[in-house]
Parts: sequence; structure tokens; C-alpha cells
Amino acid sequence: MKGKKLLLIMVAGAALCACATRTSQAVVKEEPTLKSVLGDKFLIGVAMNTFQSSGRDTNGVNIVKKHFNAIVAENCMKCQTIHPQEDRYNFRQADEFVKFGEDNGLTVTGHCLIWHSQLAPWFCVDKDGNNVSPEVLKQRMKDHIMTVVGRYKGRIKGWDVVNEAIMENGSYRNSKFYQILGEEFIPLAFQYAHEADPDAELYYNDYNMHFKGKRDAVVKLVNDMKARGLRVDAVGMQGHVGMNYPDLADFEQSIVAFASTGAKVMITEWDMSALPEVNRTANIADTVAFRKALNPYPVSLPDSVSEKWNKRMAEFMNLFVKHSDVISRVTAWGVSDGDSWKNGFPVRGRKDYALLFDRDYQPKPFVKDLLEKSITK
Ligand code: G3I
Repeated sequence: MKGKKLLLIMVAGAALCACATRTSQAVVKEEPTLKSVLGDKFLIGVAMNTFQSSGRDTNGVNIVKKHFNAIVAENCMKCQTIHPQEDRYNFRQADEFVKFGEDNGLTVTGHCLIWHSQLAPWFCVDKDGNNVSPEVLKQRMKDHIMTVVGRYKGRIKGWDVVNEAIMENGSYRNSKFYQILGEEFIPLAFQYAHEADPDAELYYNDYNMHFKGKRDAVVKLVNDMKARGLRVDAVGMQGHVGMNYPDLADFEQSIVAFASTGAKVMITEWDMSALPEVNRTANIADTVAFRKALNPYPVSLPDSVSEKWNKRMAEFMNLFVKHSDVISRVTAWGVSDGDSWKNGFPVRGRKDYALLFDRDYQPKPFVKDLLEKSITK
């Protein structure tokens, strides 16, 4: 009898323990993060500046590690920085950035190989400042791409090979690359990048991709390159959007159009300025009033504007999720509001609120909603 009683107490005790463990498991469910919520849909990435990839911005680094599973270099791999003179490369910051990605198990994207902007001044001209011949430019492009891509072979998932080569009306940008080599500079860049690292993914990246002219021209470009047997893995839609542009339907049409080429789509530089657009043709009679109008929220973002901003960002995110069968990565162009290039462009010294985390490194309301919804699912 005594033995039976003891057995009963032990069984009841075990059941209680199991119950308690289950309850505590439910309570200590891991805190949701962007990558835990979105990771089964697409890579969720962020652009890192060198304060972050060197570890100096510890708050920024914590956010990157916690919320993102992919990174791209905001500036340190651009030609001007990485290849400032013909016979001199500067890999210090790029090495640090790639190592940060490896150390933290992040998917690393290289940005960018051929771009008219932030181009080292020597790249397309001779010592007298005249455009070099097509043969010389081809050789310089090849050397640059082979050296940079070759250095990180096997360590970088993919490269923005050509950046911003097409205009909104579908014509080619009149860059030095175009002046010297014509349209052929784009396929050449893709060919060299593939030679340098045959396993790396290769992307064409551009902004204002919702314009019909640009959309059609990029679709044609990708189809033509694919028809020639060149590797093109994705079209990068930068996604620098504003409170009033673009129309979501136009943006969606471009996602669908780019996907129709068989390439993936990536949202590569997502941010949304909360500030008024700059009308460059305005007659600036009163500069002080004009400046105030351009920088209307120097302290904080009013609730009404914040609500509108968050609603629109959520709409974009919903659109990305809707098309997650063709979108392979969504990358924010910076960690927190203080890091954003929008604070200095197109007008210097404004205070913008363009990113997913605020200046105190807190998630914006639409990000919080996304995380909270995942708990109640
Ligand atoms: O590092 C120098 C510093 O030494 C110098 O004292 C200071 C003075 O202006 O400039 C610093 O460099 C700045 C650099 O960012 C690093 O902060 C440059 O002036 C500034 O022009 C540069 O802006 C970058 C811009 O590209 C031009 O390269 C932005 O941070 C970066 O967000 C932006 O990113 C581009 C993408 O690569 C392509 N798509 C558009 C996107 C936005 O323009």
C-alpha cells in the first residue's frame, strides 16, 4: 500500500513537471526578429557602413546580428574606394566587411563593380583627361572586375555587376562607359564577373524601376544577355521610395515584368524618405522659409506623418511578401535613421526618418507590428 502511494506521488510529480516544462517553454518562446519572421520568404538584408563593419557602432552591429541574415557594403567596395589609382587597390575596409559577414554567418553581397558614380577619376581617361580607347577601357574593366571579384571568390554570394545604366525613358545613361563602349559595356562586365567567380550570382541594379521606359529597357537588357548565354541571376530594384511615389501598382508591375525574364527580383536599397520632395525649379525668394519647408521635422516626426510613413512601408512589405516566390532578397539601405544617406541628399543637413529602426535603434511601428503578428500567429 505504502509502495503504491509512493508510485502515485511519483507519477503525479512527473506529470506536473512535464506540464510546467511545457508552460515555461511556451513562455520563453524566442523573441521574434526580422529574420525569424521573414527568413522563409526571402533574405532580409541591410547595408552596412564602415563604422558597423569595423565593429565601432556597437548598437548598429547588435541590430544587424539580431535582425538580418544578409549584408551589403554601402560604400567600401565602390571603385573610388577600392581601386583609387590604376596600380593601387585598397581592400582594408572591404576585407573587414566580408569578414564580418563570414564571422556572423550572413549572406554577403558585393556592391558594385561598374557604376558611373563614385568611379575612380582615372578609370575612363588617359593622363591628359581624354577618354581612353574601347580596348583600354575593356582591359581596365576586366582587370578591375577580375581583381575585386577574384579576391572574394567563394565568399560573396553575388555582385551588383552594373549599377544605374538605364534612364527612366529607357535610353542608356550617357556615362563614360557608354560613350566609349556603347551598350556592350554591360554584357562585358557580366562576362568578366562570371569569369572571375563562376559560382557568384550576378545582378543588374537600378533605381526608379517603376518607370515604364526603364522597366521595358531592363527587361530587354536581361533577355538579350540571357539569350547570349550570359549569367544574370537577379534584377535589383533599389527601392528608394517616398511618401508619394512610386505608385505601388507601377512598382508591382515592374516586379512581375523582371520576374518574367526568369531572373529573380531583389529589393536592394529599400528606404522611404519622410521629407517633402525637393522642387529644384522653385523660385527661392525666401531662403529661410524654403529651408524650413524642406527640413520640417528637425526634432521628431509628427505622429500623423509617422502613421502615414509606417502604413506605406507596411504596404510595400506586404507587396514583397505577396511576390516572395520571385523576390529572393529585401535589403534596407542602412541600419537606423541616423545612418541614412537621405539625411544628406538631395539637400544636405536635413533630418530624415527613412529606415526600419529609429535613431534610438528601436524598431519602427510597422516593424513592431510585423514582429508582434508573428507571435499571435
Ligand atoms: O568618407 C568620406 C569622408 O572621408 C569625407 O570627409 C566626407 C565628406 O563629404 O565624405 C565621406 O564620403 C561620403 C560617403 O558617402 C561615405 O559616407 C561621400 O561624401 C558621400 O557622397 C557618400 O554617399 C554615398 C553615395 O551612395 C555615393 O556613393 C552614400 O553613403 C550611399 O548611401 C549611396 O548609395 C547609393 C548606392 O551605392 C547606389 N544607389 C543609390 C544609393 C544612394 O545614393
